[in-house]
Parts: sequence; structure tokens; C-alpha cells
Amino acid sequence: MLSKSVQDALNKQIRVEAESSQIYLAMACWAEVKGLEGISNFMYEQSDEEREHMLKLVKFVNERGGHAKISDLKEPNVAFGSIKEMFEKLFNHEVFVSESINDLVHITLQEKDYATHNFLQWYVAEQIEEEAVARTILDKINMIGDDKGGLYLFDRDINNLTVTTAAANQPE
Ligand code: FEO
Repeated sequence: MLSKSVQDALNKQIRVEAESSQIYLAMACWAEVKGLEGISNFMYEQSDEEREHMLKLVKFVNERGGHAKISDLKEPNVAFGSIKEMFEKLFNHEVFVSESINDLVHITLQEKDYATHNFLQWYVAEQIEEEAVARTILDKINMIGDDKGGLYLFDRDINNLTVTTAAANQPE
């Protein structure tokens, strides 16, 4: 059974993940209308992933005797000054999500809710991955600068991006 504070914190995270999905969906649309097909596909996938993160939390809350709260969401930014600005926003958002997960993990420890603490470890690992991907993308964008040819190749190759993180290298 979930305590009220753990349930409230999980419900808050459900909203964070839902908003992440909307934020990335808006980025996908912006890139799509700009003709950046690769970046747009990448962002549509990120948006789907965030919805999965949200659903995983929804199911967990309901299965543990709680009631997942589906709330209204903040309207995301729909336009960006540049691709670099868009990916900077993505990176900053992932850092914010990581902080939110850390706060949530902290509450489970305070409440001695080790089942939820254990469940959240997947999110802790996922955030390492997501921050690493966003950082890699920003490094590449900075390297490209104003080079149109570089941007063309980046848009073509972004979906093949592989990032090896410390977490992925850890033995099972
Ligand atoms: Fe679900 Fe990108 O954090």
C-alpha cells in the first residue's frame, strides 16, 4: 500500500512525464514543418518514450492500491530560435526530470517504502541514459555550428545515434 506522500509524489511524476511527452511532441512538430525529418522522427520517438514512462508509473500506482491522477498539462513551447536552442531545452528538461526523480526517491526512503524505491531504480538508470544522449547531441550540434552540410548529415544520422553510458557498461 502506498502512503499518501509517496502516492502524491508519484502522481506528480506522472504529470512530469506526461508534460515531457507533450514538450517533445511540440519539438517533433516544429522540426517536421522545418523539413528536418530525422530530427522530427527522433523527437516523435522521445515523445512516445515519455508516454511509456508515464504509463509505467500509472500502472504502478494503481496496482499498489493507489489511484493514478491524470491532470491537465502545461502548454509546451511550440517554436524555437534554432535547433541548438531546441536541444538545449531538451537537455535542461532532462536535468529537471532527473532532479524530480531524485526527490521522489528521497521521499520513498523517508517513508521506508522499499518496494517503490526499488521500482524507481529503473527511472534512475533511464535518466543517466537520457542525459547522456542529450549531452552527446549538444556536443555534435556545437561541432556543426553553422555548417549546413553538417546539419544535413546530422538530420540524416540522428536516429542511429548510439551513446555508451557508464550505466550501460556496468556488469549485470
Ligand atoms: Fe521520462 Fe526523459 O524522462
